[in-house]
Amino acid sequence: MTIAVLVSGSGSNLQTLIDQLHCDETSEVNIAVVISDRKKAYALTRAQAAKIPSYIVTVREFPNRHAFDNKISVILNKHGVELIVLAGFMKLFQPAFVQKYSNRIINIHPALLPAFPGAHPVSDTLAYGAKVSGVTVHFVDEGMDSGPIIAQTPIPVFDDDDEKDLHARLQAEEHNLYPKVINWYAAGKISVSGRKVIVKE
Ligand code: GRF
Repeated sequence: MTIAVLVSGSGSNLQTLIDQLHCDETSEVNIAVVISDRKKAYALTRAQAAKIPSYIVTVREFPNRHAFDNKISVILNKHGVELIVLAGFMKLFQPAFVQKYSNRIINIHPALLPAFPGAHPVSDTLAYGAKVSGVTVHFVDEGMDSGPIIAQTPIPVFDDDDEKDLHARLQAEEHNLYPKVINWYAAGKISVSGRKVIVKE
């Protein structure tokens, strides 16, 4: 299965997918392309090191968000992408893009959705005083972190956690869960009916 990984930042999830899927000869998953909306994303260095084609597509080069989405769509078509994997990608797509790739875009989020959606889930979790957080992998719909949930893993919040401690434990679980879900998708084990996602293990 041919995937694209979309990034904005450090790319630790991208690195995990490179190591556990792309470079594993027994895996059916190939990362055909990496797309970043930020020029300085360290994820781009990781893509180059793995010899994966990468593109920088910034919102400011385009007159509007439809044109931004269209550019990404052209790149995805060019590389024959079957599944779009968001890994720390900090932009929302327009509804037309989401509908075009319905059930073919997934995202990972460091909280147990629907709790703490948005750009600051870890600090929001700590500020709220929640005792349990976790990692969610979900399909992307028109909303913010609101699509059908594929998999979740709970992670305890400790009394002395700061944002860095909790995010580090959440990321360790992200690196475990994301490759697993992508393998399930590649093996045709995931089916969706409305909001309900069934994984046939
Ligand atoms: C991850 O925690 C992801 O869940 C969130 O942004 C972070 C990206 O980290 N959406 P990285 O760039 O993969 O290291």
